Amino acid sequence: MRVLSGIQPSGNLHIGNYFGAIQQYLALQQEHECFFFVANYHALTTIKNADELHLLTADCVRDYLALGLDPERATIFLQSDLPEVTELAWILSTVTPMGLLQRCHAYKEKLAEGLPAEHGLFAYPVLMAADILIFDSDLVPVGQDQKQHVEVARDIAQRFNSTFGDVLRLPEPHILSETAVVPGTDGRKMSKSYGNTVGIFDDDDAVRAAVMRIKTDSKGIDEPKDPDACNLFALFRLFADAPERTEMGERYRKGGIGYKEMKDHLIDLIISYFADAKTRQQELQTQAAHIRKVLDDGIIRARQVARKTLDRIRSAVGLP
Ligand code: ADP
Ligand code: TRP
Repeated sequence: MRVLSGIQPSGNLHIGNYFGAIQQYLALQQEHECFFFVANYHALTTIKNADELHLLTADCVRDYLALGLDPERATIFLQSDLPEVTELAWILSTVTPMGLLQRCHAYKEKLAEGLPAEHGLFAYPVLMAADILIFDSDLVPVGQDQKQHVEVARDIAQRFNSTFGDVLRLPEPHILSETAVVPGTDGRKMSKSYGNTVGIFDDDDAVRAAVMRIKTDSKGIDEPKDPDACNLFALFRLFADAPERTEMGERYRKGGIGYKEMKDHLIDLIISYFADAKTRQQELQTQAAHIRKVLDDGIIRARQVARKTLDRIRSAVGLP
């Protein structure tokens, strides 16, 4: 199976990104041929400052490595090192119905948030389809919010194939139900754009402050609580092992644990969960040459695959 996924470097990685996407990358790289990239062309739809984009892009690569993406097992590269995807995006756009893009939730939500409606934001799923289709990807690990975009890629591939023959492989989204939507501190989906995140690499004080902000109801310590209806418990569940989940679930239902105790416990769990990654992140700060080499090797491997697909596509549509 060939696996491909990417994350936009539009802010610091948070635990929604970790459990929705990166944790899947770590598991899939053990068994499959994987391509993981930093979607900096996509980030241009939100970051309009060159220095900031450079910095966030470099941080994202470093953080991928710190979290355990392994260049020996996966091909890691920058989207902007593969401008072939923008060529493919153009070709795909000529078989993409406007209505398909107008229905995309992410676009509609951004418009509702008041972001200017640039063409790049509208055409974003076509570039994402190009990322996916240029690698003949089978599986695309993402969180629930990106499912529709992977389906659009599949839809575009089907339309292309029905016009030009059986040229493109149809991808499937790969979503784990338990971590498909990680809630943020306000109970909505955790997202950079909502300001409700807990950062993976936040220092201890910032983790503490974010967890303390998690919204709960006002039940007292002794009152029974429903773990399945509690945002704090949903986050705890991600970090705790099975016996601890069962034990806490029982304490919740019986009454006898307060939200303050639960928050203190969650803070400890989060800090220890990412402690090793934070140490590796520190070590990588001084390893610019190593990181450059990972990307240089990555783009060579990525281009070998992508070039072949693009040549096949150019020939299918009649480009010399
Ligand atoms: P954000 O919403 O913070 O901008 P991105 O859109 O950059 O995050 O998401 C990068 C990856 O992380 C995608 O695969 C996305 O589905 C996943 N992801 C982001 N937020 C969450 C979340 N709250 N729960 C599950 N997965 C998430
Ligand atoms: N749109 C994705 C996000 O916001 C990032 C992305 C770009 C992506 N191209 C992709 C994800 C291709 C999977 C496959 O998270």
